[in-house]
Amino acid sequence: MSIVQYLTEEHRRCDEVYAQAEQAVLDEDWDRANRLFKEFKEKTLLHFRKEEDILFPEFEEKTGIVMGPTQVMRHEHAQAKDLLEKLEKALETKNKEEFLSAGESLMILIQQHNMKEEQILYPMSDQHLSSEEMVEKMSALGEV
Ligand SMILES: [Fe+2]
Ligand SMILES: [Fe+2]
Repeated sequence: MSIVQYLTEEHRRCDEVYAQAEQAVLDEDWDRANRLFKEFKEKTLLHFRKEEDILFPEFEEKTGIVMGPTQVMRHEHAQAKDLLEKLEKALETKNKEEFLSAGESLMILIQQHNMKEEQILYPMSDQHLSSEEMVEKMSALGEV
């Protein structure tokens, strides 16, 4: 399996769970919203970890590109983590408007981020890295 395929599927799964969490908030079904948001957060953070701990360091080593796309991606992960905190606080206080507003910001950030990874970083990784080895190492961290 290619890196593009493996990590793009994880993006799709995270998107799906977020959409379900958002629907639960719209329905004001807070138990379901909490459960789904927790799942979304866990999946997203695990996906980030696979990139930050395994893919990005190998990309930097194999391509010699250290101050490029991986730095931008790490910075965007940090921004996404801040927004996840905001969403979590909004859920705790059952603040629907705040959740939806922070959620929209997060989705815009993540869609742009994912597009850059899927169109540039992952294909470059498949070109320069051992895809099979990378997928195996990332899979060892768990299922998204
Ligand atoms: Fe990423
Ligand atoms: Fe990603």
